[in-house]
Amino acid sequence: MKIQIINGPNLNLLGVREPSVYGDRPFEGFLDTLRSRYPDVVIDYYQSNVEGEIINRLQEVGFTYDGIVLNAGAYTHTSVAIHDCIRALTAPVVEVHISNVHAREEFRHHSLIAAACKGVVCGFGLDSYRLAIEAILALK
Ligand code: DQA
Repeated sequence: MKIQIINGPNLNLLGVREPSVYGDRPFEGFLDTLRSRYPDVVIDYYQSNVEGEIINRLQEVGFTYDGIVLNAGAYTHTSVAIHDCIRALTAPVVEVHISNVHAREEFRHHSLIAAACKGVVCGFGLDSYRLAIEAILALK
């Protein structure tokens, strides 16, 4: 079982960036917790601030992995290219957000990628990633 987690722009700053919205925990520490919770699952992690690099990684894993957990950050609200890429893949993609985007500014209410994804988890802090993994495991 192989799951890829992809974090988009500014998510390398977790722990430092707006802690009142995104929490004060760096993602790397959380990833260790997540991996020890699922010892039988290979959980790969990739982060990029660059739209094309996120698409390259999606294409690399999207035909062989069992699922992809994608927090595309602000590209969620802008990227037709990521939408098209997700549609091309065979692996299920779960859109994830740490914050409840629907309770925030209006420009965050619309996702350009949600319709191409299997489903969406948002608003549960870093636990959104675990819930997305549970959703992928339940598909098997
Ligand atoms: C985010 C929500 C997005 O609106 C924002 O641009 C992010 C983070 C989240 O995880 O809550 O960068 O995807």
